[in-house]
Amino acid sequence: MKKLTLNKAVFPVAGLGTRFLPATKASPKEMLPVVDKPLIQYAVEEAYSAGIRHMIFVTGRSKRAIEDHFDTSYELESELEKAEKFALLKLVRSVQPDDMNCAFVRQPRSLGLGHAVLCAEHLVGNEPFAVLLADDLMVGLSGGPSVLAQMAAQFEQTGQSIISVQEVPAEQTRRYGIVAVDAASASNPGLMKIQKIVEKPAPEVAPSRMGVAGRYILTPAIFEHIRKQASGVGGEIQLTDGISSLLDAESVYAFQYQGKRYDCGSKEGFLEATVELAMQHPEVGEYFRSYLKGLKLD
Ligand code: UTP
Repeated sequence: MKKLTLNKAVFPVAGLGTRFLPATKASPKEMLPVVDKPLIQYAVEEAYSAGIRHMIFVTGRSKRAIEDHFDTSYELESELEKAEKFALLKLVRSVQPDDMNCAFVRQPRSLGLGHAVLCAEHLVGNEPFAVLLADDLMVGLSGGPSVLAQMAAQFEQTGQSIISVQEVPAEQTRRYGIVAVDAASASNPGLMKIQKIVEKPAPEVAPSRMGVAGRYILTPAIFEHIRKQASGVGGEIQLTDGISSLLDAESVYAFQYQGKRYDCGSKEGFLEATVELAMQHPEVGEYFRSYLKGLKLD
């Protein structure tokens, strides 16, 4: 029997990032740093921790910095070597471990997340793959597996597509894909078969409060289902609509992960991530906590 492991991850990074203008006018949103690491690096490290070694980036205009970030920086490395700054040299080299490879494909226009995923089809081929939206920064429980590693472990058991979900406030259903699910089994309470998925419904018509977060494991059948989609909500080709169509052909599961999601596509979420990760940071955490304690907040 074919072993159900994941080898490839797709990072759609071709969005316009309008909520972060003017910062994103000429630089990618995914290169915004949370403390000292760009969002995209958190996502790539998460995929690596799930055993994935082939990283596929779907990029657009103004995204060159992402390619540079995951490339060798000869000038910087030789300067650090000359200056005997070996700890920094190790840090710089750790961004792209030797056993990891990166491929880049362009999405010519921001036609939606579904369209971005479709742009990676020829690099993914006929195998299951993960999709990670780097602007959702996911942090697993302390000392526990990353969110994608948790999902990969589920995938090894089921071999079916899995989407990460979390409960969202009723008034926020318009921001998410929302799923209706069957009851989970007692032996695996986090995993639920999806009956229905709807993109950004109004609270009155939302089938539940279970919102899709930016981590997916998909079977390659998804490509033909995305291809069938006309533009959906916002005039974009939605991944949610592709998944909705996939449900007619295959089982798809929702997975309630252990950990926390920061919506770094929004200013509020980005600030929350910055504060909370800074408080835990090995180098500046202690200083930052005492700084926060000294702030007068009213
Ligand atoms: P968002 O909905 O956050 O859109 O996309 P955005 O354009 O990046 O940001 P705003 O809303 O204008 O501020 C979710 C993810 O899908 C990618 C984005 O890069 C982001 O990671 N995406 C979206 C694409 O790669 N291509 C698209 O056409 C749309």
